[in-house]
Amino acid sequence: MSAILAIYPGSFDPLTHGHLDLIERGSQIFDQLVVAVLTNLEKAALFSIEERVDMLREVTAGIPNVSVDTFRGLLVDYALSKKARVILRGIRAFTDYEYELQMALMNRQLQPNIETVFLTPAEAYSHISSRLVKEIFQHGGPVKGLVPPVVEERLRRKVFPK
Ligand code: PNS
Repeated sequence: MSAILAIYPGSFDPLTHGHLDLIERGSQIFDQLVVAVLTNLEKAALFSIEERVDMLREVTAGIPNVSVDTFRGLLVDYALSKKARVILRGIRAFTDYEYELQMALMNRQLQPNIETVFLTPAEAYSHISSRLVKEIFQHGGPVKGLVPPVVEERLRRKVFPK
């Protein structure tokens, strides 16, 4: 059986402890895990692609079978170009399910040979989202425990520059 490469795609604006938890779990299941940051322009982002990639590289530096990349266009086209067999996505709560199911089925229709695999992050992280992290931080609230320290520091520099 050949090695299984999985793609973990997302916006990661910014990455949270929930994302990191999923990366760690995925890295223990698959031979190679590529964390792929979407560069399509439709979403207004707080962090640039380079900043998001930097943060992801920093926090995953100790996991040898994890790499970080960017992609544009259709996820299945990117996955195919990487010879990936799996798309990894996280489901935190029931509310994620509908959207994730729709994407998984659409991706399967586009590319039947690529399977979407869902993992759940640790319960302690199931309420964390990048959107809420940004909102809390922008209003001066604490994000300790929600994001890795490197992200907290970057948020501080970005939102409250000296
Ligand atoms: O972290 P996000 O923003 O929920 O990730 C969404 C993402 C990047 C996985 C999704 O928007 C995506 O795959 N975009 C690429 C374009 C694409 O393939 N669209 C069709 C999906 S069925």
